[in-house]
Amino acid sequence: MVKIVAMSLNILSSDQSPSNLETGILILPITDKKEVFSGLSLAAKKKTRKRINQLKFSGEQGEVEFLPEGSKEAMILALVGVGNLSKELDYREVFVLKERVRRAVGRVVQEARKLGIKEMVMDLKKVGDEMGRKSEKLLNELVEAVVDGVVLANYNYDEHSERIRTELKKKALRRFVFLVNKEYLSKTRWVIKERKQLLEGVRLTRDLVNRPAEDVRPKTLADEARGIAQADKNISCSVYDREKARKEGFGAFLSVARGSDEEPYVIHLKYRPKRGQKKKVFIVGKGITFDSGGLSIKPSEGMESMKTDMAGAATVLGLFKVLTASGCQIEVDGVIAACENMPGSKAYRPGDVVKARNGKTIEVLNTDAEGRITLADALSYSVDQEPDAIIDLATLTGACIVGLGETYAGLWANSDSLKESILEAASRQGEGLVAMPMPDEYKAMIDSRVADVRNIAVTKMGRAITAALFLKEFVGDTSWAHLDIAGPAYLDKDLLSYYSPGATGYGVRTIIDFLVNYN
Ligand code: BES
Ligand code: ZN
Ligand code: ZN
Repeated sequence: MVKIVAMSLNILSSDQSPSNLETGILILPITDKKEVFSGLSLAAKKKTRKRINQLKFSGEQGEVEFLPEGSKEAMILALVGVGNLSKELDYREVFVLKERVRRAVGRVVQEARKLGIKEMVMDLKKVGDEMGRKSEKLLNELVEAVVDGVVLANYNYDEHSERIRTELKKKALRRFVFLVNKEYLSKTRWVIKERKQLLEGVRLTRDLVNRPAEDVRPKTLADEARGIAQADKNISCSVYDREKARKEGFGAFLSVARGSDEEPYVIHLKYRPKRGQKKKVFIVGKGITFDSGGLSIKPSEGMESMKTDMAGAATVLGLFKVLTASGCQIEVDGVIAACENMPGSKAYRPGDVVKARNGKTIEVLNTDAEGRITLADALSYSVDQEPDAIIDLATLTGACIVGLGETYAGLWANSDSLKESILEAASRQGEGLVAMPMPDEYKAMIDSRVADVRNIAVTKMGRAITAALFLKEFVGDTSWAHLDIAGPAYLDKDLLSYYSPGATGYGVRTIIDFLVNYN
């Protein structure tokens, strides 16, 4: 594997006036009263206001316009609409504004990268100045959203080609400066630092998901987990090989692993903060390092995207990398049953009946519905440790993408309060997540004539739902939620301005937010 030190992006804050900085792009917040919400000189403001009118820029939240003629402050001015900032926003309105700002900043970064502009300044001097004390919180929220937009949009995956590395290096943003008033400098710096730390977890997840399956084997995930534990005194890690996993009862998981020559591993990470220890949450990630479908082999077209079938596991690893930095006070365990789904001569077959860890038997009717079989054991293992809640993340079904498209994950849960808390966390972080039903009447669709449950439903209807119902068979009474992240873990197209096509690191921000607020 090629290890490259990423060109670092410096995010700073300063209380200088924009005219002292002469930067590449100066981002100016514009309100819906078309007010230039900035510390720009009066003359420059006047000129900008004229252009705002010419362009019919309305200043509504998230609107973006470039003034390529620039000013004496910058080569290019970027207008970003922030709507009405004089009215007090309730917390939901703040989350919506933040996501619009992420997207707007993502667009500005895209433009900068297109033009090879390496430096950018955003003037937030008026936020928290003219708006009075109350707006300090809003300023912090905005800074956080802007850091997200900048860092996520500046991400590159360039491990395999010198040409691509050179091209991307030419484009990458190197410096981003927030202009704020002196009294906010230290707080702004703190917000930047905290957020950048968290986004390191997202970066790790994206790298792991983007990497080819040849470079991310079950052993790679185990090594990554061990490395994370070694670097953090709050974290320990145990890894079970095939033999140990068999003794621990992971029969269903091992039957999926049989078709590949890659050694399977069960990975268990434990985060134990010094204080707290009030609650314990298990996060389980689907860790299929490549999903060929097994004997129920997938069509060759699109099969390459199945290198991403360990995105749930990658989210667990990204999360553990930043738990300590996030100040999480509760116990968190991460469980990954990592293997490859291949059609080798020892592969499990359609028609086989396999036994999961909790004693339930599974009739395998399609070896491509393998994720749920591996998760059955991982979930039952988690249940036995008596956590307060279990959350699994899995690229589980194509049906979920068909239903929700690519920017939303589906959420299923057997506990309304857990479901609500996760939805809240996702909305705070601007990750698309929608609650899905888990109706009892669909359970009959996964009843088997020869085993306790079948691994695919009798009907093609609602297959993301019947997959969730299958998982439910393995969690008993424990509070549990399931996120089907098949859509948002990896975006083929330019759907969100702050993600280039490829891995997104979906879930790291939401789950951290959930854990930090869970008590
Ligand atoms: N890993 C796939 C689901 C998937 C599809 C993830 C597309 C990301 C993008 C999963 O193991 C699978 O193959 N599911 C099948 C289930 C079917 C056989 C019942 C599916 O969704 O088609
Ligand atoms: Zn599959
Ligand atoms: Zn799969």
